[in-house]
Amino acid sequence: MKRRIIYLDNGATSWPKPACVGEAMVDFLTHKAGNPGRGGHFLAREAVSVVESARKALAELIHSPDSKRVVLTHGCTDSVNMAIHGVIRAFSREFANSNGECPRPHIVTTAIEHNAVLRTLHCYATNKQIDLDIVPCDKEGLVHVENVVSVTRADTLMFAISHSSNVLGTIQPVKDIVCAIRKISPEVLVLLDAAQTIGHIAIDVQDLDIDLLSIAGHKALKGPTGTGALYVGVRAFPDVGDHARIFCERRGGTGAVAPGLEMPNVLPDALEAGTPNAVGFAGLLAAMTEYDGEISKAAHEHEMSLTQHLLDGLSRIEGITVYGRKDTKNRTPVVLFNLSGIHPRAVSSSLDEEYGIATRGGVHCAPMMHQTIGTGSDGAVRVSPGVFTTKDEIEAFLVAIAELARRTSNQLA
Ligand code: ALA
Repeated sequence: MKRRIIYLDNGATSWPKPACVGEAMVDFLTHKAGNPGRGGHFLAREAVSVVESARKALAELIHSPDSKRVVLTHGCTDSVNMAIHGVIRAFSREFANSNGECPRPHIVTTAIEHNAVLRTLHCYATNKQIDLDIVPCDKEGLVHVENVVSVTRADTLMFAISHSSNVLGTIQPVKDIVCAIRKISPEVLVLLDAAQTIGHIAIDVQDLDIDLLSIAGHKALKGPTGTGALYVGVRAFPDVGDHARIFCERRGGTGAVAPGLEMPNVLPDALEAGTPNAVGFAGLLAAMTEYDGEISKAAHEHEMSLTQHLLDGLSRIEGITVYGRKDTKNRTPVVLFNLSGIHPRAVSSSLDEEYGIATRGGVHCAPMMHQTIGTGSDGAVRVSPGVFTTKDEIEAFLVAIAELARRTSNQLA
């Protein structure tokens, strides 16, 4: 028997995937699955065409000046790791003395970050390889420009920030922050983590004046897991790669004709060793082709109307605490709450087991955000509708959570 699923965990990964995604992947495996760039035969050429079309679609979506600046990765965490390790490694290659001693670069990040950023930077900070400043956010998950400015130095190497909190859905004032910190450190490399925004809102890397953008293919872009990208701007990797400020440790073949033992000095090859997840990019390309206009006004309004409905409905239920803003201004479709007297993971389990409703309880890999809002190590329950969610599904969720709240309150009485 088919299980009823009301899927409200799009913050983790989007579901359902459009039928075209699976169809394109099967078609790829059946008719096109050569190794892209490795060999000149028909199947290899077909695979190149798919992978390069996906790269081009991503480049157009984010207004990259050139598709070669979109490096394909295995996901957003992979992209963030490539960016952070790459920038720190390039710095130490440039500034280490003959004894291997290197000045510590200064890096700034924020308390809203996901572990992809926090854990990667923490590793360097605890080894005293970087000076790290973590800028706080307010209880609504907003990072204030003046707080970033107050820690930025003339020699700040990198600023890493999530475009939107995966816990509260707060979209950050990135353009204002970047403009302000460039007045202090004009060449600072800005890494924007777009895991939670790409596919939900328009992103223009040139307008935002950012240098690195990490992209997840499997969230609002509706592609399969295992697909992602890193946009690399000209400050990080000039057209002539000799002065690149990002260096990838991963070495290997790229498919380019390059006889030497060095990696090619051009994008995307300099950062893209090994066979890409071509079948995954076939799926992502299909989703992006079919839902080209998905960041339409109508789609955005639909997601925001569901979000407001959730906020209003949850606020009316006794025993529920809703965190963050209570409106949809500068927000992605994410709502966070707790039910008094019951652990958030138990709430999520009950919703799943008794009602077939998928949510995510816990700390959502963003521990500092939960510390800031007072939900500590238990965390809270996150509800994240997507563009395919219906108002009836939100209603069914609200009925279920109201019932759970009543039951919990009776048990505690
Ligand atoms: N980072 C993903 C989430 O927020 C997995 O659930």
